[in-house]
Amino acid sequence: MKHTVQITIDGVTSDLPVLEASVGLDVVDVRSLIQKGLYTYDPGFLSTAACESAITYIDGDAGVLTYRGYPIEQLADQAEHLEVCYLLLHGELPSASEFAAFKQDIADRMPIDEHFANLFSGFTSESHPMSMLCAAVAGLAAQFHDGLDIYSAEHRLESAKQLIAKIPTLAAMSYRKSIGAAFVPPDPSLGYAENFLNMCFGTPGQAPNVSATLASALDKIFILHADHEQNASTSTVRIAGSTEANPYAAIAAGIAALWGPSHGGANEAVLDMLNEIGSVDRVSEFVARAKDKEDPFKLMGFGHRVYKNFDPRATVMQSSCHAVLAEQGVENEPLLEVAKALETIAREEDYFIERRLYPNIDFYSGITLKAMGIPTPMYTALFALGRMPGWIAHWSEMLSAPFKIGRPRQLYLGPASRDFIPLNER
Ligand code: CMC
Repeated sequence: MKHTVQITIDGVTSDLPVLEASVGLDVVDVRSLIQKGLYTYDPGFLSTAACESAITYIDGDAGVLTYRGYPIEQLADQAEHLEVCYLLLHGELPSASEFAAFKQDIADRMPIDEHFANLFSGFTSESHPMSMLCAAVAGLAAQFHDGLDIYSAEHRLESAKQLIAKIPTLAAMSYRKSIGAAFVPPDPSLGYAENFLNMCFGTPGQAPNVSATLASALDKIFILHADHEQNASTSTVRIAGSTEANPYAAIAAGIAALWGPSHGGANEAVLDMLNEIGSVDRVSEFVARAKDKEDPFKLMGFGHRVYKNFDPRATVMQSSCHAVLAEQGVENEPLLEVAKALETIAREEDYFIERRLYPNIDFYSGITLKAMGIPTPMYTALFALGRMPGWIAHWSEMLSAPFKIGRPRQLYLGPASRDFIPLNER
């Protein structure tokens, strides 16, 4: 303990301990306040640390993001997504033999039971892939429930492998259902992103034909999304998991939280917005709407709760985005012209500068996925696919040490106690 913070309540001063972070801001331990008859108030958890964690570190002002200490730029540049999954789960990078065994474990677990695939027949082809993905992952809880001991590190690792292996298959099945096409099974000879692209766009029974550039760009997108400390969906997984719920159900809760346009749904919302704007001459009209306090419209893909100077993921994504646009020969697409104009205006206007609103990862990932030919409704499902190792690593970390059920307090502003009035007297 480095220092303390003093608090005076009704003239009585007491010390609150300050817990020391290994890097970044220290944390005032307010747990004893309840004994002094007070709660703390922090809607949206702007200033509240709800757990200890050793997985991911973010410095929003400096634009730093590390997984287990490794800078995101190095991981995105030099690692494979499955290597990053291993790192997030185990805390260390794998040796060559550990990595080979991990890849094999994932490949072995990618197929989905035939009877389980029937779950998709209950959906129409208009169903959003996120709704199918959420239901399918929750459905896995039926398959992996009896005998699953969440306090066993071995069982948690098995759940992690199952989820990381099955999410691409289920996401691809959601897509195939939405286009009314037959499922393409996973191919153990393919890499992780390559397999996903083949399951989405391949033909059953035909040899895979996946562009190496696109597979590598997608793998990078997965790495950039793999974890982001206590964001809304990860916190949801932790809270659901803190009730000792089945991990597949807890992850399904995280997928539901991710879907919203303020979080993972932003990549899809970026494309919807670019389509709505339509042409460069309408950009200023939409920028004016974003600045108007009476208008709920926000520029999707701009701003971040934590990053207030730049989003390091967006920087990596921006260069990968340009590579994909060049490879696909779509650099001059009208929608991308709109995106460039928006980016320029938002970077120059006082409103955005004062509020420190910068293009975030979703701005560039939305554009990249569009250029890759991925259908817009799949974007958030891809985010879920990338975020899986982060969710499961946080769930496992929580369960590996003593924890409490997540249960916030409130500032009650409703009526004080009053007597019930029978219906005939009201
Ligand atoms: N367009 C216009 N104004 C904005 C925007 C935006 N995208 N984002 C924030 N503002 C304004 C906001 O109205 C407020 O103005 P004022 O101070 O005058 O009231 C100010 O900037 C601060 O915003 P805030 O809502 O208090 O910030 P927050 O930290 O609560 O919200 C956010 C962060 C990401 C939810 C928000 O910036 C947003 O909704 N952005 C658009 C959606 C988006 O791109 N989300 C993806 C985030 S990155 C992926 C992920 O990690 O999940």
